[in-house]
Amino acid sequence: MKISILGTGHIGGSLARTFSRKGHTVTIANSSNSKALHELATETGATPATVQNIAQGADVIILSIPTKGILDLPSEFINSIAPETIVIDTTNYYPLHRDGAIDGIENGLLESRWVEQQIKHPVIKTFSATNWYNFTAEIQSELPSRLALPVSGDDPAAKALVSQLVTEAGFDPVDAGGLDESWRQQPGSPAYCTDLGVEDLRKALSQATNVRKPESSGVRSSQEELATAREMQTTFFQTFTKAIEVLMESNQWSEAAATKRLVAQFMTGQSPEAVFGFIFEHKRLS
Ligand SMILES: NC(=O)c1ccc[n+]([C@@H]2O[C@H](COP(=O)([O-])OP(=O)(O)OC[C@H]3O[C@@H](n4cnc5c(N)ncnc54)[C@H](OP(=O)(O)O)[C@@H]3O)[C@@H](O)[C@H]2O)c1
Repeated sequence: MKISILGTGHIGGSLARTFSRKGHTVTIANSSNSKALHELATETGATPATVQNIAQGADVIILSIPTKGILDLPSEFINSIAPETIVIDTTNYYPLHRDGAIDGIENGLLESRWVEQQIKHPVIKTFSATNWYNFTAEIQSELPSRLALPVSGDDPAAKALVSQLVTEAGFDPVDAGGLDESWRQQPGSPAYCTDLGVEDLRKALSQATNVRKPESSGVRSSQEELATAREMQTTFFQTFTKAIEVLMESNQWSEAAATKRLVAQFMTGQSPEAVFGFIFEHKRLS
């Protein structure tokens, strides 16, 4: 299959490795056409492209960029998506520390519906509800059993094909309903990044509630409140990144292993301050 991946970071890069290994014809692009893009191409055998031409001839396009990046997609990209091409949306909206408030979404449009509106093409939402390290061969080899991933979308044939790609990526696909139900797999829901198998994921999807959490909104009642919320989230993610660097360097861990172990630490219920404080003092996990 001809798979074009827009975005070559944690998710796009991992998927480029996976689908190249599986024998697909993979094309990759990012906005900077950077050295990293060409290094990933050399590593995987994928073909580097530009954002303008990556959609041409693709059977499947995977959108794996920050949500705000969708606003920058050029008309050459949007106009060259063929009607029969399947577009996968992996994006999650993080308005406070990354994306800024996006009016269409803040005014009530579901995130993936907003993406559809911008690119003028239907999408299937998947690969978005698990941490990036779960796509790596290293972490998958340590798992006791396969994790499940939700797949939301309106076209049954497209969903079936995408579910096959989810299987190839090492996950069990779970039908999460039409795209209007895709809020069930978004950040803050019980299905989001909770590392579940098929039955537990189905349960989690059914237990989700369609209420936008404060951390998923870039709107506050005052500018001061918004600035405080932004600063808190930005500080958290900056500290998170620094903690991963410390763990990698001090323990000779890969980025995937360090990130997974740090995330697991948060699942124990310790406060972020306690987790980060221990890491910066002892350069390891408690
Ligand atoms: N990280 C996770 O664990 C995870 C899990 C599930 C879903 N997601 C979602 O998946 C998406 C990608 O996340 P990520 O973690 O892979 O991000 P990332 O590591 O920051 O990588 C983002 C990639 O997108 C490219 N990019 C940014 N703006 C672009 C634009 N306008 N046009 C083309 N390429 C652009 C960046 O390269 P340039 O800057 O060079 O353009 C980079 O290659 C996000 O929406 C994220 O919320 C992430």
